[in-house]
Amino acid sequence: MLHVPNSTRGYTRSQISNRFGPPDWFPESHPAAPKIVLEGRTPEVPACGYCHLPNGFGRPENAGLAGLPAAYIEQQLDDFKNNRRHNAVPRMGISMIPVASAATPEEVKEAAEYFASVKPAKWIRVVETETVPRFHAAGRMWVPDQDGETEPIGERVIEMPENTERVEIRDESASFVAYAPPGSLKKGEDLVRNGGNGKTIACVTCHGQDLKGLGTIPSIAGRSPSSIGRQIFDFQTGARNGLNAALMKAPVSKLTNADVVAITAYLASLNP
Ligand code: HEC
Ligand code: HEC
Repeated sequence: MLHVPNSTRGYTRSQISNRFGPPDWFPESHPAAPKIVLEGRTPEVPACGYCHLPNGFGRPENAGLAGLPAAYIEQQLDDFKNNRRHNAVPRMGISMIPVASAATPEEVKEAAEYFASVKPAKWIRVVETETVPRFHAAGRMWVPDQDGETEPIGERVIEMPENTERVEIRDESASFVAYAPPGSLKKGEDLVRNGGNGKTIACVTCHGQDLKGLGTIPSIAGRSPSSIGRQIFDFQTGARNGLNAALMKAPVSKLTNADVVAITAYLASLNP
């Protein structure tokens, strides 16, 4: 039986990796979740909470869903299902297409309303630094090596669990740290708020002054830089071409890798 701090629950390793009933360590920390989120439907729809966590806070390899507009979530599943939303790196985008294709409209609606009702909380700590812990891939995440060695950050944002063991057992209170090159936050703020002197269209125009979304436009504040960065590249390449994606074409068209590093670091540093 495995445990995490402050939870009265215990799960075995095989329960933790059950796609049709993953752990819900803190059921009192989120509204009551529908069956599709906690258990999914065998054999074709794994629980949304298996990948996105029961509170929808998500992980770097998927997406935070907590507090996104229900209509936006439903539209994304429709886009995945109807071949409009892919990933620029195809192996990263394969998870949602079967899920969205197999889920019924009622299941999608229930899940969307549930995730929209969860209040997001600060989940990512952004640190500007010249060096990062050396790291390797575990599952679909970067995790720090045990030896304490470091390497230069380069032109990258590196996002890792604050506590690898707790993230590996799907503790939805175990948050992330994102390392970014020095100067990222200031440069990102200028691009996001002012458009970086014509480089892009200020994101606040559509995503709201607080960047927490406007109408059915999603929040981009306090969300995973890995996940948000992938979306920017997906809009750029056209792999993400959903019904409402056209508005994102102009803002991303001139962004370089260094711009995406700065923008995602700044956005991740905000309160969600
Ligand atoms: C097997 C893992 C897995 C399961 C199960 C899963 N998802 Fe996802 N989901 C992903 C991944 C990975 C992505 C990110 C795709 C990308 O970056 O292109 C994603 C992305 C999404 C997005 C896009 C978010 C955004 O910000 O645009 C939504 C919405 C979503 N999932 C909803 C759901 C719902 C609702 C369910 C349950 C019915 C579900 N997912 C089940 C892995 C999963
Ligand atoms: C003209 C309006 C507009 C502007 C300006 C704009 N966005 Fe968007 N953005 C949207 C819309 C609409 C969507 C939803 C697209 C969809 O449904 O596919 C979106 C979606 C996104 C997403 C996907 C979020 C997710 O949950 O997957 C990201 C990331 C994003 N925008 C980042 C930015 C950034 C960064 C900027 C500024 C550089 C920006 N946007 C400027 C309208 C805009």
